Amino acid sequence: MKVFHTISPLVQYLDEYRGKSKTIGFVPTMGALHAGHISLIEESVRHDDLTVVSIFVNPNQFNNPDDLKRYPRNPDSDIVMCKQAGASVVFMPSVEVIYPEPDKRQFDFGILDKVMEGKFRPGHFNGVAQVVSRLFDIVKPNRAYFGQKDFQQLAIIKRMVWDYSMDVEIIPCPTVRESDGLAMSSRNTLLTPQQRASAPLISKILFEARNKAHSHSVDELLAWVVDSINQDPLLRVEYFSIVNAVTLEEITQWSDAENVVGCIAVNVGAVRLIDNVLF
Ligand code: PAF
Repeated sequence: MKVFHTISPLVQYLDEYRGKSKTIGFVPTMGALHAGHISLIEESVRHDDLTVVSIFVNPNQFNNPDDLKRYPRNPDSDIVMCKQAGASVVFMPSVEVIYPEPDKRQFDFGILDKVMEGKFRPGHFNGVAQVVSRLFDIVKPNRAYFGQKDFQQLAIIKRMVWDYSMDVEIIPCPTVRESDGLAMSSRNTLLTPQQRASAPLISKILFEARNKAHSHSVDELLAWVVDSINQDPLLRVEYFSIVNAVTLEEITQWSDAENVVGCIAVNVGAVRLIDNVLF
């Protein structure tokens, strides 16, 4: 496995490879890798000839400087994990390499980047679009793999690829969960033991909500999920929205959309966790 820190040698290496008609799979990450990331890498290894993993904590997508400072970083173990998962290339650039000049591009994804995470983390998705488009430009992958835990991010990336006619296929991959149901996230390592013990209530309630969906109205279910999670004094729901899985518009009746998803963000002390469930 090769590790690159700068763009030119990486581009040269990938161009030679592409010349041999091989496919390139790409897994963009912010490092602190866990089994969820590994499942994306393994999916790429299964489908593509060469798998590139990027490890870059993108400052442009953090609207809270403390969150950026606290974000976990384990570059050495990340490299080992990439190798074990079968990646061929790791790209670990510095901020200066990705942003030699400030990126002033403003993306507009309609309501997709205004609701839910977009409302509570202003500028977050603009930063995600900046870095992902930049990484796509550098790596020029045939396929790029994203986890469904970040449901809204996935919708926005698909929209960006469509809007800008980017020549890359986006492959959504299922959320990977701990044995107690907690969605895997690099942020889970920041939880205290007590917070970690409380956090699985989020997915437990989401799964129960899925079972209750057809015997309750959308409004009843919204209130029930928020109340049930807030029963735990360590958990505070920031939002729970039940939306059309394609447009991300809130629904008021189950018949409003064919595919419906419930997306949640919960503050667990200073740690913010997100999850979602398809109804
Ligand atoms: O999902 C993430 O880890 C990040 O948002 C991504 C896609 C790597 C962009 O920084």
